[in-house]
Order: sequence, then structure tokens, then C-alpha cells
Amino acid sequence: MAIRFQQLNPGACRTYLLGKPGITEVALVDPVLDRLDAYLTFLRRENLKLVAVVDTHTHADHISAGPALRDLTGCDYIMHAAAPAGCASRRLLDGQALRLAGLEMRVMHTPGHTGDAVCLVLPDRVLTGDTLFLDDGGAGRDDLPGGDAGAHWHSLQRLLALPEGLVVYPAHEYRQRAPSSLAVQKGSNPHLRPRTREEFIHYIQELRLGPAGWMKEVLRANYACALEPGKVWIPVDAHACEARGTLGKGANEQVVVTIDPGELRPRLERDDRPVLLDVRERSELAGALGHLPGIVHIPIDELSRRLAELEAYRQREIVTVCRSGGRSHTAAQILQQAGFAHVHSLEGGMLAWRARGLPAGRQDSGDIWHKL
Ligand SMILES: [Fe+2]
Repeated sequence: MAIRFQQLNPGACRTYLLGKPGITEVALVDPVLDRLDAYLTFLRRENLKLVAVVDTHTHADHISAGPALRDLTGCDYIMHAAAPAGCASRRLLDGQALRLAGLEMRVMHTPGHTGDAVCLVLPDRVLTGDTLFLDDGGAGRDDLPGGDAGAHWHSLQRLLALPEGLVVYPAHEYRQRAPSSLAVQKGSNPHLRPRTREEFIHYIQELRLGPAGWMKEVLRANYACALEPGKVWIPVDAHACEARGTLGKGANEQVVVTIDPGELRPRLERDDRPVLLDVRERSELAGALGHLPGIVHIPIDELSRRLAELEAYRQREIVTVCRSGGRSHTAAQILQQAGFAHVHSLEGGMLAWRARGLPAGRQDSGDIWHKL
């Protein structure tokens, strides 16, 4: 089967473009609202006509671009019949044959992570949404509204009954793993280990998951067909949707090496001084603690989507800085996850820096850093 298939996002959320080679009509699966302009630019540049968006489920970690793309392009916005979003223009049912941008696929309703989850089964691959991730990523968490571990177990049994040569394309991939077949996943994905339904529910209950309060806000925004990014606060937690506590290290478990203020101070005078990445809010730069000289400033909640601005520093040493060392720690983890090799977090942040009597500048006053 000739297929045009492309993943369009740089981050952990995967957005797939589907179509047939030589045909201008294409569909997008799981587009992210933050990336709306990038998609539109891409479609224009490639001379492609968007005919449909499918969301594999109501997302809890990002706002879908489906409603906005429907508004802007007139494309179909397709979700499962159980999806709460009122703006979906077509509704899917289990077992339905779906023709999308010239491609034939089958819809499999796979509740578990959410009640409205679907997998799209093509002849050589299966788009699994958050029903199944790759390898030790496991699958989407089942503790959010609409989640049901027992239903998830049943959905996974149905996935396991598909031809095992199908290649798995999930809605998230947090560690840049290459897609692999269901056969490979049977051996490498802890969610697919043989278990009874009760054993699976127990396994899910034992997983260690991050806080979910903000994800409920994101779900509500998607129920309401939000059109503007930034309506909901979305923390930079690159593994938000994942059921953690399985095998490998996630971003939150990555070891970060800190650097002491006293050690950093003399190094700022050297020619090969590290790049200082301050991840506080803009208002804090003008506050009493001030900031270090020559900082690159990217607030922590914008870091994941602004990594391209740091591309020139990929081979340099980067020291992340915040107020007390918490956000800078997270920032260092995000950079490490993105492949930046030499990253340190300023231990104790600007509080520790100033407590040592070390100098800083303040953005609003025009002070140079030696004066403050
Ligand atoms: Fe999800």
C-alpha cells in the first residue's frame, strides 16, 4: 500500500500526516494547537489540502488543533461517538471502515485511557493514540476522568489479536524511540505482559503517576473545543500522559548535576563561560534577586516549545537558573531529554547566589551586574 506518512512535531506529542503519494488531500491525526501555524505553513508549502483531522481521544496534556483547523480550513473534525467535544463533525464507531485522504482504515474503539479512545488500523500499521505507547513507555494513564483500567485491559487484548507485524505509531513518544511492530511490543512493553484483567487493574493501581489536576483543566478545554493556546496552564512535564513507574527513566527521574554558585562565579569571567539560561518569569528578572549577566531568558513553561532558540548552544555548557533551584532542575532535565549534553543547574538558584553576596543585575533599573 502506497502511503504518505509523516510525523510533524518536534516534541513528545506525535501528529501524523496521512495521505497517498501524488494526491494533494491529506489528513492529520492528533494535531496540537500550539503547532497550528507550523501545520498551516507546512500544508501551504507542500501544496496540500487538509480534508480531515482525527483525534484518537480527548487529550489531557495539550489542546487539540482539531477545532481550529476545522474553522480555518473547513476540514472534517472526526472523533469517536463518545467524545464530549460538540464541535466534531463526524463520529466514529467500533469496527467502522474509514476512508481518509484516499486511505482505507478500520476504527477500533479502545476505551481505557479515555472512554472515547480509538485506534486506527491500516494494512501495515496501527495508530494507537494513548492506548499503547512504545516499549517501557507503557500506555496512557487510566486515572483521569473517563479512564478505566479494566476497559484498557480489554482494549489491549484486542490490539494483541491484530496481525503482529503491524507497526505501532503512538500519540506520544517521550524518548525518541523508533516505532516497532506489535510483535516487538509484546516483548518490550510492560502493559502487554500476560495478565488477567484483575492483575492488570492491580498493576495500574500500583503505578506511580504525576499530579493530574492541571490535566483535568486541559480535558475541559478540549471538551469545550478551545481555539486559543495558552487558555490553560500546561506545565512542562514531558511525560504527562505516560503511566510511569514501569521500567526506564523518565524526564522526571533524570539525574541533574548541579553547580555551586561559588564554582560558577569565576567561570563567568572566562572566555568559554557557560550559557546562562534563566527560566524564571519575566517579572522576576526585575525583582530584588536580580539576574546574572548575559542571560538567555526562557520561562520554564515555554521551554519545551522554544528549544530551537537554544540550538546554537547544543555543544556549549548550559547552566540553568531560577529562584531556588526547582525550576532550573526541571529545565535541565528537559534539555538533557532533548539531547543537550553539558547541562548543569545552579544549586539553590538566585537565592543561594545572593546569599553568598555574589553580584547580580536588575533588568528594570539598568544596573550593570557589578553594581547591585
Ligand atoms: Fe492522552
